[in-house]
Amino acid sequence: MVTLIRETSELRLRRSQESLPIGFVPTMGNLHAGHASLLERALAENPVVYFSIFVNPKQFGPAEDYGRYPRTLEQDLSVIEASAARFPARQVVVFAPANPTEVFPAGDTQSVAVCGLSTILEGQSRPGHFEGVATVVHKLFDLVNPSTAYFGLKDYQQYLVISQMVKDLCLPVKIQGMPIIREASGLALSSRNQYLSPEQRAASLVLSQTLRQLAALIGGARHRIPEARRRISDVLKDPHWNYLELRDAETLAEDVDRSTHITILAVYQLGSTRLLDNVQVEVS
Ligand code: PAJ
Repeated sequence: MVTLIRETSELRLRRSQESLPIGFVPTMGNLHAGHASLLERALAENPVVYFSIFVNPKQFGPAEDYGRYPRTLEQDLSVIEASAARFPARQVVVFAPANPTEVFPAGDTQSVAVCGLSTILEGQSRPGHFEGVATVVHKLFDLVNPSTAYFGLKDYQQYLVISQMVKDLCLPVKIQGMPIIREASGLALSSRNQYLSPEQRAASLVLSQTLRQLAALIGGARHRIPEARRRISDVLKDPHWNYLELRDAETLAEDVDRSTHITILAVYQLGSTRLLDNVQVEVS
C-alpha cells in the first residue's frame, strides 16, 4: 500500500506510530529504473519503506537547474505503485513536501558540512553542493529515523559524503550502496538525460565506454595503472571532459599505490548538461 504525505507534521505523526525496521530512499523525483531499483531493494528488506521526493534548493548553485529540474509527481507515484505492487505485504510512505518550507522553515540557518570529501571533484565544480546534500539528508534522516537508507553508487562521491556524515555524527542508520542502473547503450540512467538532444545522447556514449575500457585495461592488475593514466591524459584532449580521475575508492585520495579498491570517476559535459558516471576496480 502506498500513502502520500505532503506535510512534515503528518510525517512525524505517522512515523511516531511505527517502530518496525524502516527502509528509506531519498530522491528528487522524476523517477526512473535506477530509483525503482533502490525502492525494490528497500521493499525486499523492510516491512515499511519511506520514500522522499524533494527537489532540494540547498544543493543547487545559483546558475544551476533548480528552476527547471523536472517535477513529475503524478508520474512518480505510478512508478512507486508499480514497484509496491510487487511487494503486496509491504507499506510505502511517500513524503513529497508540498513546499520547501516543510523541510527548511523560512529563515532556516542549519547546515551540515562534511569537510575534505566535499570540496574535491564534484565539490570543486559545484561549490556548496555537498553541504546542501548533507544538510537535507541529515534533516530527512531526523524526520524518518530509518534503520537502513539506500543510495545509488551512480553518485559515488555523494555516497561517500553521506557515509562519512553518518560515521562522524554517530547516526543510527546503515547506508546501503546500490549498483548503477544503465540503459542498454551503457549510459547511466539519470533524470538529467532528458536534457540531451539526440546528437548529444549519441555523443554521451563515450563516457560509459571510456570507463569500461579503462577498467578492462587495468584488469585487476596494479602494474597497469600507469598505462591507464597515460590513456586518461590522451582521452582528456577532448574538452567535453570536466574530469576523469583514478582515485582510492574509500578516501578518494589521488595516491592509489596501496589501494586495493579503486574508482574511476568522470563528468562528461554536453552543452550545460553534466553527465556523471564511475566504475569500480579491484586491484592487487
Ligand atoms: P536523485 O538524483 O533523485 O537520486 C536519488 C537516488 O537515486 C540517489 O541515491 C542516486 O544515486 C540514485 N540513482 C540515480 N540514478 C541512478 C542509477 N542510474 N542507478 C542507481 N541509482 C541511481 O541524489 C539525489 O537525488 C539527491 O542528491 C538526494 C540524495 C535525494 C538529496 O537531495
